[in-house]
Amino acid sequence: MYKEMELDHTGLELDLPVEETKRQYFYMAVCRKWVENFEKLNHRLPKACVVNMGCQMNARDSEKLAGILAQAGFEEEEKEEQADFVIFNTCTVRENANMRVYGHLGQLSPVKKKRPHMKIALCGCMMQEPEVVEKLKKSYRFVNLIFGTHNIYKFAELLAACLESDRMIIDVWKDTDKIVEDLPSERKFPFKSGVNVMFGCNNFCSYCIVPYVRGRERSREPEAILREIRRLAADGVVEIMLLGQNVNSYGKTLDKPCTFAELLQMIEEIDGIRRIRFMTSHPKDLSDELIEVMRNSRKICRHLHLPVQSGSTEILKKMNRRYTKEQYLELVRKLREAVPDISLTTDIIVGFPGETEADFEETLDVVRKVRYDSAFTFIYSKRTGTPAAAMEAQIPRGVVKQRFDRLLTEVQTISAQVCAVHTGKVMPVLAESVNDHDPSLLTGRLSNNLLVHFPGKEEMIGTIVDVKLEECRGFYYLGKQESVRTKL
Ligand code: SAH
Ligand code: SF4
Ligand code: F3S
Repeated sequence: MYKEMELDHTGLELDLPVEETKRQYFYMAVCRKWVENFEKLNHRLPKACVVNMGCQMNARDSEKLAGILAQAGFEEEEKEEQADFVIFNTCTVRENANMRVYGHLGQLSPVKKKRPHMKIALCGCMMQEPEVVEKLKKSYRFVNLIFGTHNIYKFAELLAACLESDRMIIDVWKDTDKIVEDLPSERKFPFKSGVNVMFGCNNFCSYCIVPYVRGRERSREPEAILREIRRLAADGVVEIMLLGQNVNSYGKTLDKPCTFAELLQMIEEIDGIRRIRFMTSHPKDLSDELIEVMRNSRKICRHLHLPVQSGSTEILKKMNRRYTKEQYLELVRKLREAVPDISLTTDIIVGFPGETEADFEETLDVVRKVRYDSAFTFIYSKRTGTPAAAMEAQIPRGVVKQRFDRLLTEVQTISAQVCAVHTGKVMPVLAESVNDHDPSLLTGRLSNNLLVHFPGKEEMIGTIVDVKLEECRGFYYLGKQESVRTKL
């Protein structure tokens, strides 16, 4: 049977609504008709698979795609080759993200020959690159639908068109200033959810393609964000992750400006929400006001992801990051002073054009000084159209690889030491899932984002429990439950 839907007000006999959200619900109803026909012919519901290939923002978008497919009546399918409709939500931040998409398509091509009714759709950041769309048009004719990041809110409408047509449908926009609210979404976890606070990025770090594929910075109205979070809380969500490429510049472009720190304070008031996380923070925009709010908050998690990218002021300048090594270290000092138990994580790029051995040593120096809980380390990847791609002195692969390995060793050694400092303490853990390897264990997360495995029952998932952290195994703890907590 179909999931109960909220499509009653979307009578197909009525004219196409003008207001965008209603318009998209209308198209969900159109898709539902197609699904009914499919079921009559095949005696089963059609199956859809959403493959997320990008960052948390893409993951949230994927939940919205899944929500629309569920409203249309599709059943969820995990294996892409067994689905009737597959959609890849792509990323293009580094070349390997890009290559993975072609890899998936290569594998699906023979599957689609055997199951010609199968529809394949591509969306997300990579589709915003004109060369990619050209390549798909030329060499991947079996793709049915291509759209980008700016018109993702039109997915129901595009899906309706795709289901009815055998042509390749391409609808990629250059930009948008529109934010469409109140579309459905199908959350991956019942107890935690991402919440977009802003879209796009205005920073133009010289290596980064995101501003080109995600467009200019746009913040959601605080009221719309609060409404969504209240609704999530009523639905049993206890942890939210506020999402944006640079949450610290939230609200600057609103008619009635509101800072990120002010937004956090309003969210703190919402009953039912126990944990608030956010990402990503750009160091140049992290205000004293925000540090103060973090210091006083009961709900903001003791974790901050603060990408440094490089420890060399010279390279930071070429990266257009707009802070120096010293400013970054000072920021870390202020944060630690205000929130002593804060866990810090970061992103680091190795092999940016012109990076000398001395520059790289500066990065190692920052890693040793800050002592991150963990760090995502990336080899610089040249992205066409970004200023860095045209810079002189691209670094030879061998040199980069050698630096990358040295950095990784340093990061991992420090991280193992830093993570172990809580051994023996009793700390609140949000139980998230049954352990992958041992079903008698649950896997949960500390406020500082570290994982903890402890004996527990499935019914505890979604609750916050006190766990004694008995042993640290590098990047996670083994623990034992103390007592069920009701308050943080
Ligand atoms: N908005 C976030 C990051 C988004 S991309 C921020 O400003 O921190 C996530 C990470 O990918 C970046 O922090 C950066 O470390 C890495 N990255 C982005 N472009 C890259 C490139 N061209 N090569 C290698 N790593 C890159
Ligand atoms: Fe890319 Fe910089 Fe924007 Fe982050 S802040 S998305 S790294 S341009
Ligand atoms: Fe990738 Fe787009 Fe996110 S390029 S990192 S999916 S914003």
